[in-house]
Amino acid sequence: MTIRITGTGSALPEKIVTNFDLQELVDTSDEWIQKRTGIAQRRVSTGETVSTLAAKACQKALEMSGKTVEEVELILVATCSPELLLPCCACQVQDSIGASNAVAFDLNAACAGFLFGLNTAYAYLQSGIYKNALIVGSEVLSKLVDWNDRGTCILFGDGAGAAFVEAAEADIVCENGRRAGLECIVQGSDGAKGMVLSCVERTLNSAFFSGNKIENLFIQMDGQEVYKFATKQVPACIQQALDKSGMTVNDVDWFLLHQANVRIIESVAKHLKADIAKFPMNIHDVGNMSSATIPVLLDACCRSGKIKKGDRIVLSGFGAGLTYGASVLVW
Ligand code: COA
Repeated sequence: MTIRITGTGSALPEKIVTNFDLQELVDTSDEWIQKRTGIAQRRVSTGETVSTLAAKACQKALEMSGKTVEEVELILVATCSPELLLPCCACQVQDSIGASNAVAFDLNAACAGFLFGLNTAYAYLQSGIYKNALIVGSEVLSKLVDWNDRGTCILFGDGAGAAFVEAAEADIVCENGRRAGLECIVQGSDGAKGMVLSCVERTLNSAFFSGNKIENLFIQMDGQEVYKFATKQVPACIQQALDKSGMTVNDVDWFLLHQANVRIIESVAKHLKADIAKFPMNIHDVGNMSSATIPVLLDACCRSGKIKKGDRIVLSGFGAGLTYGASVLVW
């Protein structure tokens, strides 16, 4: 038994914010941002929320899969920027799309959230508890970013991506002889390095009791530490996943990586000795959308026909926690 992704969808806010727009806010330049990160523009919410974006992405994924909303059994929303603490975003999505038969809950593994969601769904589906799941990565990071901090505000964007996964009872053999479905997962966490990328929770009562002012409510990041972590851990966990599934880099058609920085993606390709042409990217247009980056990219590659039946794909990401993971699957 394995699981297959049978539908993908995505949703982005309307508003585009370019690097030139950011030049008006902070001391930066389009040239610096493009050279250091590969980002030219990002989407920023002007009213769209984590749950409205997630619901739209889910509807598109369901439409592609051909399943009805009543058939959905599990909804997992990966987010670190929900609009409410209670109820969780997944329950808002359930209500919004009318998936009244589904169990719904959120998980937070930051930018690795979609992968962690996929792996959680895999465990549920493989054990037979549920037969299908909607997995969503959705973020409105623009509300967590300090728009006066040039070190972070240039990096992030808002958006949502979803995948509908189903338990594949019978083997589906593709024309190239590969068996469709998830082949292997690897995931890890390194809490000891957690504070290199953090954001304090808004309802801390310490300020009330101690009278201490909370210094910064926005995302705090040691960019170079995150960079070092990503360029070491991502190729290592991809290699581990390939070893576990008995594959080599040459057996992979596409590497869909978390879109945090073009230089990180290029470094991973170099470490793996893989052709950079196998690493589709959308960071130029949408920036780093945390848990949404991988499913939005997957949806684009799937709808454009870049990813074809039988292609072997590696999904890999890293994020606050610190968290990281890789999944190998045949489309
Ligand atoms: N525009 C212009 N200059 C900027 C700038 C900006 N937006 N941000 C920082 N700088 C300046 C710094 O102040 C520093 O100036 P100084 O040399 O006078 O002190 C200089 O540029 C170099 O800064 P540094 O932090 O060393 O740059 P970098 O090459 O490490 O690039 C990041 C910064 C953030 C792009 C890079 O570290 C990175 O991508 N890290 C990973 C972050 C990440 O992926 N986070 C999300 C994880 S999910």
